[in-house]
Amino acid sequence: MGYLERFRLDGRRAVVTGAARGIGFASAEALRDAGAALWLVDREADLVAAAAGRLDARHRALDLRDAAAVEAMAEAVWAEAGGIDVLVNCVGICRNTPVTEIPDDEWREVIDVNLNAMFWSCRAFGRRMAEAGGGSIVNIGSNSGVIADKPQPQAHYNASKGAVHMLTKSLAVELASKGVRVNAVAPSYTLTEMTKLGLANSEWARIWAEMTPMGRFAEPEEIASAVLFLASPASSYTTGSILLVDGGYTSW
Ligand SMILES: NC(=O)c1ccc[n+]([C@@H]2O[C@H](COP(=O)([O-])OP(=O)(O)OC[C@H]3O[C@@H](n4cnc5c(N)ncnc54)[C@H](O)[C@@H]3O)[C@@H](O)[C@H]2O)c1
Repeated sequence: MGYLERFRLDGRRAVVTGAARGIGFASAEALRDAGAALWLVDREADLVAAAAGRLDARHRALDLRDAAAVEAMAEAVWAEAGGIDVLVNCVGICRNTPVTEIPDDEWREVIDVNLNAMFWSCRAFGRRMAEAGGGSIVNIGSNSGVIADKPQPQAHYNASKGAVHMLTKSLAVELASKGVRVNAVAPSYTLTEMTKLGLANSEWARIWAEMTPMGRFAEPEEIASAVLFLASPASSYTTGSILLVDGGYTSW
């Protein structure tokens, strides 16, 4: 197989969560370009339907915090597709509150979406992939799983992303012998809805750019290329990796 062919996903079936917009949509687009058939999942019903229309994909509108609903979705999508080869988990939210003032509900909400929802999907599809004898899972972590961001307070987000990285490694070691690879992409500031508010704060935006050796923020497509690498046979010997795509942010 030629090197470029190793990035192809022809005949493969992929599920992308948090796919209605941002990094999830770009990742889905990358997998589609590589030839995969797609199932998009997001809680934003109208947005995910529109995204699916643009990518010629199937979709499910679903709140991924609901473990039973995720299990039912996995069962239905698996049956519809006749198996799933790739799962990309892009679901996520961020809140900015000083650590000693984070209300219980807000802490739980961030952990529920960023960690628990990813786990429900990894468990549901990982089990089926292991039984079927193979697959590739890519979770979106963050530079915030490696460093504590400056200057905005977001202890729950940072903690959830550190946990996503360790969940990824734990899945990788347990599923390697079943042919399932599990990796994470850890982006830094990327131009999506999530960073819109922060970028509107000129002081935050200045600090973020100053702390990034490349001096700019990522486009979602620059994260999606890394997702495609990890999802495809191009990364056939890579598992348990946390691939930083951060313009050098964590290198200083
Ligand atoms: N944008 C950044 O700077 C950045 C940096 C590092 C990591 N990330 C991570 O990348 C991933 C994608 O973020 P993004 O920047 O594209 O943000 P985004 O807000 O544009 O996209 C997140 C998607 O997740 C969906 N979602 C949220 N909660 C959900 C739930 N409970 N059930 C179903 N869907 C839900 C949203 O509807 C949305 O479509 C997240 O995990 C985020 O933490 C983003």
